[in-house]
Amino acid sequence: MTSTSSNSADSSTGAKTGPALPSFFTRYQSRIDEALRAELTGLTPEIYDIHRYYMGWQEIDGSDSNSTGGKRMRPTLALLAADAVGGDLERATPIAVALEYVHNFSLIHDDLEDMDRVRHHRPTVWAVWGEPAAIVSGNAMFKIADTAAWKLRAAGVEETVALEAEAELTNHSLKMMEGQYLDISFETEESVNVEQYLDMIERKTGALIEASIYLGSLVGPRSGPDREKATALKAIGYDLGRIFQIRDDVLGVWGGEETGKPVGADIKRKKKALPAVHALSNSTGATSERLKQIFRTEGDLEAEDVHVVLEEMENLGTQDYCQSMAEDRWLDCKRMIESLELAGSTSEEFTELGEFLLVRES
Ligand code: IPE
Ligand code: IPE
Ligand code: MG
Ligand code: MG
Repeated sequence: MTSTSSNSADSSTGAKTGPALPSFFTRYQSRIDEALRAELTGLTPEIYDIHRYYMGWQEIDGSDSNSTGGKRMRPTLALLAADAVGGDLERATPIAVALEYVHNFSLIHDDLEDMDRVRHHRPTVWAVWGEPAAIVSGNAMFKIADTAAWKLRAAGVEETVALEAEAELTNHSLKMMEGQYLDISFETEESVNVEQYLDMIERKTGALIEASIYLGSLVGPRSGPDREKATALKAIGYDLGRIFQIRDDVLGVWGGEETGKPVGADIKRKKKALPAVHALSNSTGATSERLKQIFRTEGDLEAEDVHVVLEEMENLGTQDYCQSMAEDRWLDCKRMIESLELAGSTSEEFTELGEFLLVRES
């Protein structure tokens, strides 16, 4: 079904490793890394050491780190989209950087909101520096994103297009926060249906992924935006965002060590991610009552209750249900990609990305 290589064993540790990132990620890697680092260069107050830690460049004590940090998927998508419309990478870099900082800001706060102490195999900001520091350093990182976006003009983007991109970045950031709020409020909702779930993920995750592809294609072309193409790419971003989050939810329950986060944390915290939505709305009789009762528990679930939930998910084929929902969406998305005339090898690369997102392990 996919062209992405399947799981393989890491020869040095024997640990299972997921499929590698599509190779086009490396094409943009050094540009993205340099531009991200440049945004914090020369900023000495300690708050920026928290940022450098979270981005994977420093350890807690300020020494250099070779931690891998995140995948840098959003800036990579912004640059891929710029390439797809024959654009100039220099022009798209400020918005790519801004998107990655908005994303990391959202993760600093998300770790606190979800009470997750570990991400990327490392302690999260609130777990190291405390909750107030996580709030304020997250807020500061959101403003770092603005300082990055303001460099659009210096990169050659016309005033009106730069303003439009900045406004879109703000709108999509707000949408992300609306989604985060819904996600949190669902924790205490008795029942959440698939429509509500899809609306929530479209905001919390879809918004920034859609924005990445849209904004890269908008600001990239030297001759100004190709509106039709940018709108079509935006629709592809919308679908990829949905696929991304559904797979994220699968990994949140059945993912392994590669996720860099504790396994099973979503169920423990009674998150209404797709697996829980499916199990709660499809179980019947006494099991249904038991599940509802478990999801009404105050605080985190005990291991025994997590086990009951996992067993019912197994009975209901919940993992297959989630995976096929992502695959169905991908069929449409793939057709859209193929129907567009994109520059160079970017059409194949968008396809490679979609296939990766369906099977990724981290
Ligand atoms: C994780 O996103 C958070 C979600 C929006 C679900 P990524 O998996 O893209 O995060 P990193 O940056 O690669 O860790
Ligand atoms: C994170 O969603 C989404 C945002 C930060 C906007 P999740 O809470 O589901 O993601 P992970 O599993 O912690 O990465
Ligand atoms: Mg989380
Ligand atoms: Mg969350």
